[in-house]
Amino acid sequence: MSLQNRTLLKVIVLGDSGVGKTSLMNQYVHMKFSQQYKATIGADFVTKELQIDERNVTLQIWDTAGQERFQSLGVAFYRGADCCVLVYDVNVLKSFDDLDNWHEEFLKQANPTDPRTFPFILLGNKIDLDGGNSRVVSEKKAKDWCASKENIPYFETSAKEDINVDEAFHCIAKTALANE
Ligand code: GTP
Ligand code: MG
Repeated sequence: MSLQNRTLLKVIVLGDSGVGKTSLMNQYVHMKFSQQYKATIGADFVTKELQIDERNVTLQIWDTAGQERFQSLGVAFYRGADCCVLVYDVNVLKSFDDLDNWHEEFLKQANPTDPRTFPFILLGNKIDLDGGNSRVVSEKKAKDWCASKENIPYFETSAKEDINVDEAFHCIAKTALANE
């Protein structure tokens, strides 16, 4: 078999502690979910290979620590990112309110050539919780935020029930590829 040309895309996942960043990645890459919370320390990446429009793509997905005291690696690895995935928990208002900070901090540290066109994606996670009854951030509110930020694509997900996880990461890969 001939050597295939693969495009490597670097994706950074950010958001408050406990919103489900690690769980979303585990569901996407390993098709596994755990109820148990284990804080991410520093940052680490996993890779997933996929095809986008007949191109072979390797997604290098960087999972980061939401807890400030575990952000030990600093933010050096933001550089060279092709896409930034912001995650909040639809049941926790603070995780939504903090999105502005994550967005701003990423742009400051990654310092992309054109901050206005740099691709972000927003995921509103844990839509399964309590059958949707504990939800505090509406879909409209999230979409309005996305519209105010150069129309960031938005997905509502459940890492637990595997809702929209593949779709979201496919969009992430496509968006990152377009920026490559
Ligand atoms: P940090 O590593 O501290 O930044 O947190 P994180 O964003 O990686 O959160 P993590 O994936 O560890 O999930 C936190 C907790 O929420 C865990 O107990 C998960 O089982 C739970 N959880 C994650 N996603 C979902 C989901 O979609 N639905 C429900 N019901 N629980 C979830
Ligand atoms: Mg984590």
